[in-house]
Amino acid sequence: MPVITFANTKGGAGKTTAVLLLATELVRMGNRVTILDADPQNWISRWHDISAPMANLKVISYVTQASLERHLDDHRATTDYFVIDLPGARSPLLSKAIGLSDHVLIPIQGCAMDAQGGAHVIELLQYLETKVGIKIPHSVVLTRVNSMVTTRALLAVKGLLAQRNVDVLETPIIERSAFRDLFDCGGTLYTMDANRISNLDKARENARFYAEEVVKRIVKNQTALSAAHPAASRFVAA
Ligand SMILES: Nc1ncnc2c1ncn2[C@@H]1O[C@H](COP(=O)(O)OP(=O)(O)OP(=O)(O)O)[C@@H](O)[C@H]1O
Ligand SMILES: [Mg+2]
Repeated sequence: MPVITFANTKGGAGKTTAVLLLATELVRMGNRVTILDADPQNWISRWHDISAPMANLKVISYVTQASLERHLDDHRATTDYFVIDLPGARSPLLSKAIGLSDHVLIPIQGCAMDAQGGAHVIELLQYLETKVGIKIPHSVVLTRVNSMVTTRALLAVKGLLAQRNVDVLETPIIERSAFRDLFDCGGTLYTMDANRISNLDKARENARFYAEEVVKRIVKNQTALSAAHPAASRFVAA
């Protein structure tokens, strides 16, 4: 049961939106998903409170550095994917969540400040790999991307990430009112009224492609891991 953490030390990068889209898509694909809401602003928990009960989706609120590992242990047997939403800050909670993750996703909007918040996370991941010998796969997901124009700032951010050999998802999360409205209306992209929300079909397609790409990354990493450590994978399968 992979643990996926969303991290960017700059606030407002699009973490919570990316968490919700991934989690709800994973459920739609037939998985049991547990979201660990470790952001004191509780956006995911508030969304959950106003949404109709959803089979196969659990949201754990008020997750802290001290309780994170216990929540993972408590729900491991009934979860296919854990998704962790973090606050936008550098903290011991960030390091702890990253250390417990199978994949870290770093949402970055096409702007320099956001990229810097993402770079903090990437530096932490590189430190863990070179100094501590812990390699945690990670990818950047570009967020709030304009569907019509590619801005110069976005191109600059993409260039910087390519220079540093950072994996970037091919599917960016586009700026869509549907993604914003989820937090006001509750539910999912599939319970929204297509007559009232513009481009809902495009939003659904975007969320699906993004989640499929994340799943592909995780399956690839796990296959590589079990090839390198067959005994460990037998243990996990048991
Ligand atoms: N793809 C998108 N389309 C439209 N609006 C978006 C999109 N992504 C994020 N937003 C909006 O941008 C704002 C910040 O997004 P979000 O809350 O997801 O960021 P965050 O990184 O979780 O922020 P924080 O660091 O405060 O937790 C919110 O108002 C959200 O509705
Ligand atoms: Mg958030």
